[in-house]
Amino acid sequence: EKATVNVDVNEIRGMIAPEVYGQFIEHLGRAIYGGIYDESTKSFRKDVLSEVKKLNTPLMRYPGGTVTKIYHWKDGIGPVDKRPVRRNLIWGGEDTNHFGTDEFMQYSAELGAAPFLTVNMNTGTAEEASDWVEYCNANGNSYFATLRNTNGHAAPYNVKFWGLGNEEAAKEDAGLLQNPDDYIKKAWYFAKLMKLQDPDISLVLVGDNDEWNRKVLTEMHPICDFISLHLYAGTQAGKPASLFASIASMEKRIEETAKLIHEVAPEKVEHFNKWYRFPGRQKPVKIALDEWGIWESGGTGDYGLEVKYNWNHALGVATFFNIFHRHADVIGMATWAQTVNVLAPIMTDKDRVYLQTIFYPMLMYRKLCGDKSVGVKVEGPSFEGNPSLDVSATVGNGLLTLAIVNRDPKQDIDISLNKNGDWKVYLLNAPGTEVENTFGKDVVMHKESSLKGASYTAPAHSISFLQIKI
Ligand code: AHR
Repeated sequence: EKATVNVDVNEIRGMIAPEVYGQFIEHLGRAIYGGIYDESTKSFRKDVLSEVKKLNTPLMRYPGGTVTKIYHWKDGIGPVDKRPVRRNLIWGGEDTNHFGTDEFMQYSAELGAAPFLTVNMNTGTAEEASDWVEYCNANGNSYFATLRNTNGHAAPYNVKFWGLGNEEAAKEDAGLLQNPDDYIKKAWYFAKLMKLQDPDISLVLVGDNDEWNRKVLTEMHPICDFISLHLYAGTQAGKPASLFASIASMEKRIEETAKLIHEVAPEKVEHFNKWYRFPGRQKPVKIALDEWGIWESGGTGDYGLEVKYNWNHALGVATFFNIFHRHADVIGMATWAQTVNVLAPIMTDKDRVYLQTIFYPMLMYRKLCGDKSVGVKVEGPSFEGNPSLDVSATVGNGLLTLAIVNRDPKQDIDISLNKNGDWKVYLLNAPGTEVENTFGKDVVMHKESSLKGASYTAPAHSISFLQIKI
């Protein structure tokens, strides 16, 4: 099979927000307890932390997810043994609250990641959300700033990113908003009280279908910076290639939402009600993919969310990152759902850890790709209705990086590049698309090599990063 890949480094598609390499942990199953946190020692699991650190994530979302509909942040602060144990009404089981806001801030700091908090708009109040902003961001002698200090954290955390609820349109959840008008009314109120605490915070609106998004954006764009989309791809039973069609439909969702943003929300808000003690938005609204991932049935653990990922899924994750690069002009953040045990790249048992196949594209895209997305055109073969190749081109640190995913399970593809020279090649591959990792077994192959010229053969089911000085 043959293909051409033509790059145009002068066609700038946008700056890639580092936050597209974000992660997410929720009070759900073994994501926190038994995942990143060890109840028996009441401390972070060091074995897990050292793997999470490798991802070099710049952004961490917490505490949910759907659990935010019943989560009260005040349960999770102060002396650990005095914190109330609550039933986790959303996901089941009990929550000791031993991991709470201060632990999350410490975890994020260990990772060098900016924290991103989602507030409870259902059983929680606007005042409670506003108190949380005060606890995290206020200086001075006010009650919650003092409380943070008493809890051993003198310096404010300066949490910039705040989610105004989570999937509020979902009928199955314990949420009460469910229609855009109710959401808008409440979200304005929350936003005001939160911004009065700290005018510099960035707010993420809950998105849903186009009709919801149009209404919510029209009303709320003056004070919000992001609209969220949750994108979970999946595979139809016995049809591995259907994963790529599912991911392609998500690229369409991004394009539709981008169009809507351009229609409804001006680049910045020129005239803003002068009575508010915070400014109107000064930067374009971006999409927050604050949950993205691959959700397959048949997993184990709570709600079957401990999903095993094979190599085909890793090709899917790589495709997603290419999509984020292609749409860098409109995607402001993307947090993978979720980091440990729940739909996760990192899995644990009591005292062991292993990395799923999907860990490796996360690691390598973050490591190798530049911060500027540039134009690239691909012509090549298809398999089972999907283009075999998916490619992104980025520039950064004087290097052009082509991220080339050959999703075809059988065919190598000979690629002609429109750039000749000395390339460095980083290849990720596995013995087949169905293989998986487990404790003590890692099937992912890594190879580094050099290439001279303008032709490259992308092996079947592989992810290649081709780098050249520019
Ligand atoms: O990531 C798991 C769950 O998926 C989240 O709690 C929810 O927001 C989404 O539906």
